[in-house]
Amino acid sequence: MPSTLPSTLTTTAPIASPGTVVILGTGGTIAGTSATAGDNVGYTAAQRTVADLLAAVPALAALPIEAEQVAQLDSKDMDNATWQRLAQRVAQHLARADVVGIVITHGTDTLEETAWLLQRVLAPAKPVVLVAAMRPATALAADGPQNLLDAVAVARTPGARGVVAVLAGRVHAAAAVRKGHTYRTDAFDSGDAGPLGVVEEGVLRRFSDWPVGTPLGLDRLAADTSGWPWVEIVTSHAGARGDGVRALVAAGVQGLVVAATGNGTLHQALAAALDEAAAAGIPVWRSTRCAAGVLVGHDVGPAAAMSPWQARVELLLHLLQACRSAV
Ligand code: SIN
Repeated sequence: MPSTLPSTLTTTAPIASPGTVVILGTGGTIAGTSATAGDNVGYTAAQRTVADLLAAVPALAALPIEAEQVAQLDSKDMDNATWQRLAQRVAQHLARADVVGIVITHGTDTLEETAWLLQRVLAPAKPVVLVAAMRPATALAADGPQNLLDAVAVARTPGARGVVAVLAGRVHAAAAVRKGHTYRTDAFDSGDAGPLGVVEEGVLRRFSDWPVGTPLGLDRLAADTSGWPWVEIVTSHAGARGDGVRALVAAGVQGLVVAATGNGTLHQALAAALDEAAAAGIPVWRSTRCAAGVLVGHDVGPAAAMSPWQARVELLLHLLQACRSAV
């Protein structure tokens, strides 16, 4: 079997690239602890180091793995500075000839946003695997160790590439991955696209060709994150008003994503305020608040196939380019 990406429904042989996998820790529930072992919700995220997480999986001990703590946070608090630092470290390790892939331990709550940012900026030719857990490390049946083992298996698979997420045995592309459940260990899905593959006893079975992309480049992420544009998400809903949008504009917001109803419709009061914002030169991108599907029709715009959260990242990257051009 060639080491290039296969077409549909092929099985990857149980072979692994011989090089190093770098595991970058950022926190999350996978590194969380609770006072009581049976408590899957009353825990504090981001307590264990990435070295601790690695030590909890004996099967990884014999492999060439390096661990590095890039951040230690609950991913609800993810920020531009951490994204900038993480992207830098991923790029630096990917540039090493001895590194075959990267694993990033992350919280589940904003995993899809980090995945999209890294995919768009780096579009890596080697695998960058985000991994997380729904239960803390102290749970009676913690899902983190198995997910980490699976993530390393994907990172070591010849021909794997791009930014993906590995949870509950499934591999999701950065473009498609969504957190779809608040509690279950199989909380993630890929909507209509379906997962890229599954990991079975350390072997990746691919369902489809893995996406390739053109990187925007690390330069897009300006080192001084205090100057990154402010982009917010607003939602259309019953009883929506325009006042929130007008307040954001008055406060200096630089980009807006609207999570529209259904196939891109907006409450008339919100639409009026968004038209005013657009007329004032603020880009307004439209996405849908539906969990799956894309906006269909004319004039749907650049975020038609993105979740509102992905669209916010995309608009941020778009505006960062405009900032660079202006310098
Ligand atoms: C987080 O996103 O950091 C906390 C929640 C989780 O990882 O499941």
